Amino acid sequence: MVDNQFTNTGACVFDVYGTLLDFNSAVANCHDEIGATADQLSELWRRKQLEYTWLRSLMGDHANFWQVTGEALDHSLSALGIENTVLREKLMSLYRELTPYPEVARTLQSIKEAGLKTAVLSNGEPSMLEEGLEAAGIRRHLDTIISVESVGIFKPHPSVYAFAAKTLDVSPNYIAFQSANGWDIAGAASFGFMTAWINRAGLAEECLPTRPAATVPSLAELPALIGITADKQ
Ligand code: LAC
Repeated sequence: MVDNQFTNTGACVFDVYGTLLDFNSAVANCHDEIGATADQLSELWRRKQLEYTWLRSLMGDHANFWQVTGEALDHSLSALGIENTVLREKLMSLYRELTPYPEVARTLQSIKEAGLKTAVLSNGEPSMLEEGLEAAGIRRHLDTIISVESVGIFKPHPSVYAFAAKTLDVSPNYIAFQSANGWDIAGAASFGFMTAWINRAGLAEECLPTRPAATVPSLAELPALIGITADKQ
């Protein structure tokens, strides 16, 4: 028996990159070709990818996440002095088939089997989401794929979370939103979702106006949090 706000969950909504799919797996698959700067490249690529989404949203100059991901990679390769178009194309194509975190498939399956709606809400553009989730073998556990492309601005703009609630036809306070990104959790909580921060990396909490309702180290803890008992898993 779990006594918390998550026991009223009507829909479970997940962020994708960093939460279900491991964005580091693209660079990890080219580790030998890249050499000593591989980890630095992965970290910079992700940081620039996110920065560019926020900057474009502030500038009112939206481009889809596939384009932004490529532009962030171009900057990162250039910043690290790597000039290799074959590697660039390989990394981009690996981004369409990222490795899921180990507990993801089982968690999604048990949540869906318990009768809850399952969805993703991602910055990813629709075709990269469909391909990536299918390649990871988890598409079948997800009822609805929601992309910010339907809204034309990136997370954490409140209109994106509002669009998800409207699409799912579930009131925001009955939506359990899971993300490994602290800034995404802050945006979702500020909009009114129940939030679980999947703090995979053991990071310090963000000092933003809203705090996560729960913090767990992986998605494996989610079924218990929302009151799905072990015999239903
Ligand atoms: C997403 C990125 C931001 O899936 O993680 O929306």
